Amino acid sequence: MRYTIPALAVLLALPGLGHTQEMVNAEAYREALQDKFANPGTMVSDRGEILFKTKRGPKNASLEKCDFGLGAGKLEGAYAQLPRYFKDSKKVEDLESRLVTCMTKLQGFSEADVLKKVFGNQKENESNTDIEAIAMYVASLSDGVAINPPLKHAKEKEALKIGEALFFNRHGPMDFSCATCHAQDEKRIRLQELGNYAGNAKNTQDTMKTWPTYRVSHGMVRTLQSRMWDCNWQMRLPDLAYGSPGSVALISFLSHNAKGVALDLPGMKR
Ligand code: HEC
Repeated sequence: MRYTIPALAVLLALPGLGHTQEMVNAEAYREALQDKFANPGTMVSDRGEILFKTKRGPKNASLEKCDFGLGAGKLEGAYAQLPRYFKDSKKVEDLESRLVTCMTKLQGFSEADVLKKVFGNQKENESNTDIEAIAMYVASLSDGVAINPPLKHAKEKEALKIGEALFFNRHGPMDFSCATCHAQDEKRIRLQELGNYAGNAKNTQDTMKTWPTYRVSHGMVRTLQSRMWDCNWQMRLPDLAYGSPGSVALISFLSHNAKGVALDLPGMKR
């Protein structure tokens, strides 16, 4: 596959213009980001595929037997049906917490080892971590599949309820909720549009269908766990633990509100 990066050319054309011109360019920029062949996320996904299939860890096993909900090793469409309840871990898991489960159970890594470094730091010029690349790969195999997480098990219903409460209840030192920023149409901070995830299904679908995403301004792939961590940080809350029940509940809430839309992966955002 050939990779070209026209989106970056548009980015370089952005600075120093008047407000209206900036808005117009931001639109053109967002449009350029829709070009899939220009998406470096596919390269991260390719690296994730190699890692996924390589025997690693104390048990010298690959992740090919990992069950994402549709059966061991059945990857196509599995991400579209997450988060869901898993009998083996007795938890509702999203893609990333499921990866933690498989890396510990199948490959024998300690949880502390897996969680030591989950996000690449763009400020240190790092590249994506292994778990980010693997998440991108597994998610990519649901490209074109409609988001459809199950809502049968009592724990799945509970996760959705908790996610809804976390989204709407104000808490923390700033007395923010997610809804403070994400519950009105056409709200924005500077040039960044803030999706309305409190009843605007189209907004929620447009957002959720493109995660994980290649984040141009970070120069790397970002996952939903990282987005939840970041927005929690914006609310000045303590660090949201990777794959924690709270993070999975928020992702459940957003995924259920985005039901029915076909995933468009890898995504690409500013
Ligand atoms: C202080 C305002 C603020 C709060 C509170 C906030 N966010 Fe955000 N959110 C943002 C900003 C700013 C962005 C980045 C927009 C961009 O870069 O385009 C964002 C982005 C997002 C995105 C990705 C949007 C996209 O287009 O892909 C999601 C999903 C999200 N927030 C969910 C949440 C959730 C869930 C909470 C509560 C835990 C929350 N946010 C709380 C400001 C906020």
